[in-house]
Amino acid sequence: MKISVILAHPRPGSFNHAIADAAAAALRSAGHRVAFHDLYQERFDPVLPFSEIARDAPLPPHIALHCHEIARADGIVIVHPDWWGMPPAILKGWIDRVLRPGVAYRFAETDSGEGIPEGLLMAKAALVFNTSNTPAAREQEAFGDPLERLWKDCIFSFCSVPVFRRRMFGVIVTSTEEQRRAWLDEVREMSRELFPRT
Ligand SMILES: Cc1cc2nc3c(=O)[nH]c(=O)nc-3n(C[C@H](O)[C@H](O)[C@H](O)COP(=O)(O)O)c2cc1C
Repeated sequence: MKISVILAHPRPGSFNHAIADAAAAALRSAGHRVAFHDLYQERFDPVLPFSEIARDAPLPPHIALHCHEIARADGIVIVHPDWWGMPPAILKGWIDRVLRPGVAYRFAETDSGEGIPEGLLMAKAALVFNTSNTPAAREQEAFGDPLERLWKDCIFSFCSVPVFRRRMFGVIVTSTEEQRRAWLDEVREMSRELFPRT
């Protein structure tokens, strides 16, 4: 299978990088082809310009490449920290520019954009790994875990990806080496389970 791994964390060597590397290694050892994108390292420009909004707009080559790749991926893995209940801006911009009409979804010909779209992604499953510094019970009680709704419903269900899994790791700031090792084992296990050798 072709699997896209998208990472958004500004510090090389971060735990998010370790998660993305562990997932990619597990997927490769299960025989999958991994397209790995470290958005900060690529200096991905997250600002969607007006000129790209139209469905048939011409795209810069690096955006066209991202679109081509995500449209054909059999699986998608997203890795990012929780920043204000949202992904870092660089990843929000990747969503804006790459999960675009004609690539990730489309509206019926007769629809002027207010109807229910048809998802176009071919991916059979999506896996999201997040990190945070908020205990799970407080995250749920105080904030309602907005990242779950965002990735599960607003994005992957919208784009017709049928299977969704997500794991939020935390609390990172007080975690021990041993805990982080166990979390990386979990990353490998979830990656292999969702995307088994074919
Ligand atoms: C701009 C910014 C916003 C953040 N917002 C939250 C938040 O809303 N909830 C939370 O639990 N942690 C928040 N954090 C903490 C990060 O989630 C935490 O640093 C990260 O998950 C831990 O991984 P790291 O040490 O590799 O960055 C925020 C951090 C930054 C820099």
